[in-house]
Amino acid sequence: MKRISIIGAGRVGLVVAACFAKMGNKITVVDIDEDKIAEINSRVSPVAEPGLDEILNQSEIEVTSDYGKVMDSEAIFICVNTPAKKDGSISLENIVAATVQIGNILKSGGGYPLITIKSTVVPGTSEELILPILESSGKRAGQDFGFCVSPEFLRGGKGIEDFMNSARIIIGEHDTKSGDMLCDLCQVFKAPIMRTDLRTAEMIKYASNIFLAAKVSFINEIGNICKLLGIDVYEVARGMGFDDRIGAKFLNAGLGFGGPCLPKDLKALIARAKEIGYEPRLLEQVLSLNERQTLKVLELLKRHIPVRGSTVGLLGLAFKPGTDDISDSMAVTIAATLTEEGAKIKAYDPLAMHNFKKLFPHVECSTPEEVLSCDAVIIATEWEEFNRLDYKGKIVIDGRRVPKAREARVYEGICW
Ligand code: UDX
Repeated sequence: MKRISIIGAGRVGLVVAACFAKMGNKITVVDIDEDKIAEINSRVSPVAEPGLDEILNQSEIEVTSDYGKVMDSEAIFICVNTPAKKDGSISLENIVAATVQIGNILKSGGGYPLITIKSTVVPGTSEELILPILESSGKRAGQDFGFCVSPEFLRGGKGIEDFMNSARIIIGEHDTKSGDMLCDLCQVFKAPIMRTDLRTAEMIKYASNIFLAAKVSFINEIGNICKLLGIDVYEVARGMGFDDRIGAKFLNAGLGFGGPCLPKDLKALIARAKEIGYEPRLLEQVLSLNERQTLKVLELLKRHIPVRGSTVGLLGLAFKPGTDDISDSMAVTIAATLTEEGAKIKAYDPLAMHNFKKLFPHVECSTPEEVLSCDAVIIATEWEEFNRLDYKGKIVIDGRRVPKAREARVYEGICW
């Protein structure tokens, strides 16, 4: 049993806390948000992650705003969020604030704690920004404390499952002893471990997420061409997927990629590349293709109804099924554009309506049946229950390939 502190009680921090707790460690979670702390202390997870509530209820996890509680930890994982600034570059404010606090702990504390960055940070951040802050405590990495970067690859809604069965654990190490310490902690998860240096580990995270984003933009581009040629892109993807150099996953053409990670990481690496004088043309195209894809659905809609004065139904608000998360969800862009262009909207989502309401108080959140009674319907998320609705007689623009929607009187797939 190790004493482990997790800084940041967001989705990543709580999943990491829960999984290390499940493995029998003593966990302290620190966050600055008192409301969130109260919520977790009443054993309700503030994020919808299957299995999380259960572990929070069973385990002895201390949740606090008191950084003093980190003092005797053998390992500290920094899991605070690194959101995007308006220009798409990464905001490091939260991680700097957390690091300053850990620096204070180092100054007065003893032992030889291992500090690991789990937050997603652009390559170079831990060496150029985080380490200098920690070492301004007078303590040195590799002499007084250990230091690693170990990015996470957790999918929303599958966090616990992904952490317990990782495809790989990436350990970026400041020095061999630090790497050994993290290996020792992580061995219990039985995943292949790759050891490397700090900035390579940071880049592996970006390259992985952006590769997935590129795969989606790639198949969407092929899909747009397929639609014009009368070819089914899903059949094309199926044929491609047999080749294991390509792989069958992440080839679902449609509205594009959204969520809290892929778009944000793509924009952050574009900004970082430009900052160091490189023009990341492919990455910029991956992004602009994705933005164009979302708007393409509106072009298709206009072939069938005038937008101004119509009522448009929006089925699906979450950025993907199985989550209540609407960050960078295509439904948000679609709703904003429809509103701007003078349409009324009725929306339905099994989980995300409360979040959507905060952004669009004027949008009527309703039942699937009400949504289907609108002048036309856009499907923006492939929730399974949408495959059981009655689309007969309707006009449907399908951004996500819901088979049953083909029964509609007018059916238009975004790229099929
Ligand atoms: C992603 C990564 O998968 C995960 O490894 C990382 O750590 C966090 O970011 P997540 O954001 O939960 O996870 O979503 P993911 O399941 O990857 O889907 C991202 C977006 O791509 C969704 O909007 C989804 O609808 C879209 N997508 C995915 C497609 O359009 N087509 C596909 O074939 C796959």
